[in-house]
Amino acid sequence: MKIVGFMGSPRKNGNTAVLLQQVMEGAQKEGAECTIYYLNDLKIKGCQGCNACKRKGYCVIPDDMQNIYQIINEADVLVFSSPVYMWGMTAQLKLMIDRLYAYMNADYSSRLAKPIKFALLFTQHRAVEDAFMPYFESVAGILEVIGFKFVPDIVVGSGLHDAGEVKSNDALLERAYELGRKVALQ
Ligand SMILES: Cc1cc2nc3c(=O)[nH]c(=O)nc-3n(C[C@H](O)[C@H](O)[C@H](O)COP(=O)(O)O)c2cc1C
Repeated sequence: MKIVGFMGSPRKNGNTAVLLQQVMEGAQKEGAECTIYYLNDLKIKGCQGCNACKRKGYCVIPDDMQNIYQIINEADVLVFSSPVYMWGMTAQLKLMIDRLYAYMNADYSSRLAKPIKFALLFTQHRAVEDAFMPYFESVAGILEVIGFKFVPDIVVGSGLHDAGEVKSNDALLERAYELGRKVALQ
């Protein structure tokens, strides 16, 4: 079982990073092989809308996304994670998700070669946990349209501001750890 975490925050010591690490530790407890990719470290260009992926079956932009496509193709579960920036995901994660358009055929059917599941993890300053839930669900929706299978559970770390402050929130740490165990047992 290969589980890949995509880290959408630029803060490697931030709240999203702490919770994503917890997810991975929970998954490792169940024997999964886990790797985290820090999107902020990668060179990922925005989709150019050239539609070459519709004609050729793959994205032609020569950047780090080519490696990420391989990593996705070999994964069993993807964990997409991001802080909420301006009521949405970070630009780092959005760049990557736009490039997943390459997994859709011209008729919008999926060209994923095998079932790959995904889970979502967000952090936010707003204390109201479900303040952005409709948005998170719409992110899950587009990933399902691309062909990924949703593990229907979204971990939301709310009321967070300072980098790493979530470390003192045992309930959230536990919640993220349990998500990891859950996805590994899929
Ligand atoms: C540019 C920017 C925009 C933000 N926008 C929002 C927002 O719209 N809603 C919110 O609740 N929190 C917002 N936040 C707060 C972050 O989501 C929150 O502090 C989160 O825990 C940061 O995650 P990190 O520690 O992993 O970087 C924003 C933070 C930044 C830096």
